[in-house]
Amino acid sequence: MPKFVINGQRPLAGEISVRGAKNAALKILPAALLSAEPITIKNLPRIQDVDLSIKLLEELGAEVDRGQDSATIRIETITDSRISATANKLRASVVFTGPLLARMREVRFPHPGGCVIGAGTRPIDLFLEGFAALGAEVEEADGYYSIRADKLSGGEYFFTTISVTGTETLMMAAVLAEGKTILKNCALEPEIAALAAYLNSQGAKISGAGTATIVIDGVKRISAGEFTIMPDRIEAGTFAIMAAATKAELTIRDCDPSHLEALLSIFSKIGVKFSAGKDYLTIRKSPDISSYSVKTHEYPGFPTDLQSPYTVLMTQARGSAIIHETIYDRRLLFTDMLAQMGADIIMCDPHRVVVNGPSKLYGRKLTSPDLRAGIAMIIAGLTAEGKTEIDNIYQIDRGYERIDERLRSLGADITRQDD
Ligand code: EPU
Repeated sequence: MPKFVINGQRPLAGEISVRGAKNAALKILPAALLSAEPITIKNLPRIQDVDLSIKLLEELGAEVDRGQDSATIRIETITDSRISATANKLRASVVFTGPLLARMREVRFPHPGGCVIGAGTRPIDLFLEGFAALGAEVEEADGYYSIRADKLSGGEYFFTTISVTGTETLMMAAVLAEGKTILKNCALEPEIAALAAYLNSQGAKISGAGTATIVIDGVKRISAGEFTIMPDRIEAGTFAIMAAATKAELTIRDCDPSHLEALLSIFSKIGVKFSAGKDYLTIRKSPDISSYSVKTHEYPGFPTDLQSPYTVLMTQARGSAIIHETIYDRRLLFTDMLAQMGADIIMCDPHRVVVNGPSKLYGRKLTSPDLRAGIAMIIAGLTAEGKTEIDNIYQIDRGYERIDERLRSLGADITRQDD
């Protein structure tokens, strides 16, 4: 199994470009199922989660023509309404259920897998309730769900918990339903508004995407065209935090700083110096950073996906910070490994840790439990004295394209090695 080996404390400098957003790619790929026409997706990141989604599409009958950073997908006929066990590796496979139900009126799928960061196996009750609100029948047996609807009709659904994939999945199911659907307490992430804008450009009638209430007037069919994936705001934020933690001067290109207000407003308070333009962000050498507590929140609040890198940054900041992870139950467990590296971290409960800094970190052997903790460990390894080895890097490759190669271009000493 490959692992990353990092020799820490090498000075980092230069420019790095941000790739297309994973969490936009993982929605536009299943959106291809909504139309028999071909869709061309540009700025598609080359990451394992995208490969898995494309595999799922091919299993459903899609012809996929992949370019370097793009893919053209045509699904004239969907050959199967069952999602295979490939879904066990990918939480976002659940998004396939919306478009499949919309076009086929039935879908059978296993419980989706992915990062082990939520309670138990990460629930999908909101999806099932939402499908029922659109008139579908939901059955569960032997670890598989079967959803059927002779006819999908518009309905109303209130998300008791805010869910990005829940919002996108029900929005896509409702696009081809008969009548009006109203979704309330929706997620506000910019990827949702981008998906809705694309679907509208192809004939859908969605209003309010990007706000808490989305109204969808069902249409009979939608066409397909071209979709350019927006820059990955989490990757951009991760690189910004990496620059701050390693006290580097770094310019992050091809990003959209307007999606990073929660992080940049904290940077202004804690002494991380930066300048931002429309599509770039420069982090300047910031030798003295102070601590600041955060509470993760749905967009536009502080993203849970930046919590792990930010926790590493707080080990290098002066003072005490409480990190309050409100969205996932298991996303702070990785801090135990930061403590093994020398960080002063006290876990109060599964949702809260106190980080006292600054601490000197020392290289250790680590295992990446999930995608975001994995990249946080890379940042910790770059900051630490000595050698850090990270295994289970499949979890990192899921969401960050050629991360070792790209960090080497900044001066990092990171290599991918086989055990
Ligand atoms: N939840 C339920 N019931 C459900 C679905 C979700 O209770 O049926 C709860 C979860 O337990 C959790 C919250 O709702 O507390 C959100 O969970 P969900 O799995 O729905 O997450 P999401 O909002 O769909 C997306 C991203 C996540 C990101 C969150 C930020 C994708 C594919 N995933 O998840 O990304 O953390 O938004 O809110 O878009 C990542 O990229 O590493 C990642 C985990």
